[in-house]
Amino acid sequence: MKNKEFFYLQYDKVNWQNQEKTKINSFIYNFIIQNIVFKKKGDKIKIFDIGFGIGIFFQMLEKNLPKFFKNITLEGCEPSYKNYKNFQSKLLNLKKVKLRTFNKTFLQTETNTKFDFLTSIYVSPHFAFDELKGVAKKISSMLNNEGKFILVVANEKYLEEKLKSKRALFIERNTKVFDGKKYKEVLYYSEIPQIGTIIDYDREEKFYLDFFRKNGFDLDSKKNLDDNGFICTIFVFSKK
Ligand SMILES: C[S@@+](CC[C@H](N)C(=O)[O-])C[C@H]1O[C@@H](n2cnc3c(N)ncnc32)[C@H](O)[C@@H]1O
Repeated sequence: MKNKEFFYLQYDKVNWQNQEKTKINSFIYNFIIQNIVFKKKGDKIKIFDIGFGIGIFFQMLEKNLPKFFKNITLEGCEPSYKNYKNFQSKLLNLKKVKLRTFNKTFLQTETNTKFDFLTSIYVSPHFAFDELKGVAKKISSMLNNEGKFILVVANEKYLEEKLKSKRALFIERNTKVFDGKKYKEVLYYSEIPQIGTIIDYDREEKFYLDFFRKNGFDLDSKKNLDDNGFICTIFVFSKK
């Protein structure tokens, strides 16, 4: 068991800024933009990215969104001081996008904007189990009525296999009870090339489905993506 602050403080000790070189997650950002975000109708768009790291997703949004949207608002939070400092907002053309960022955890962030999309790209495994209810409530309150929540996590089966073959990555296994049902939760080391090793919670796919359904969301779609051998699952939820 780790304290809640650990999950973002650990980013002050790894080199997430090397994402500029390795381009990890760019494939996912591109998929989200082309297949989900571009489907939004109208010329206005508002997106909030939870735990934006060094903001590469923002950079890709800033490059692509002006093709379809005139009025663009991007907001996001990033509690790691190192990642926040490495986010170079100056690289974004602030004439094309309105940008507001917070050096805070998601639960500490306050904004009155209502968004079309909230994204959580490999961030939810850093929320402790007892924070998740508050997180779901906050996501729902920040989305407009047609808004969508995009959740990206490591694919459950892919991780299971990886932890079987590399036992040293495993830290502890817990059983969590939600709504009378038991779910597995695994704490493990995630090795990221050229960045470092971070600690993550892996939760069952079924947990995310049941949990968000019970907390005011419907599942629109679910897809597994192979990002250079690393498999993730992308869930898109809408508000009920
Ligand atoms: C695996 S990184 C992913 C960063 C980014 N989403 C990306 O695609 O590169 C996880 C990020 O979540 C952030 N994080 C950890 N705990 C958080 C919290 N409670 N609220 C918001 N972000 C958090 C970390 O600081 C870190 O930057």
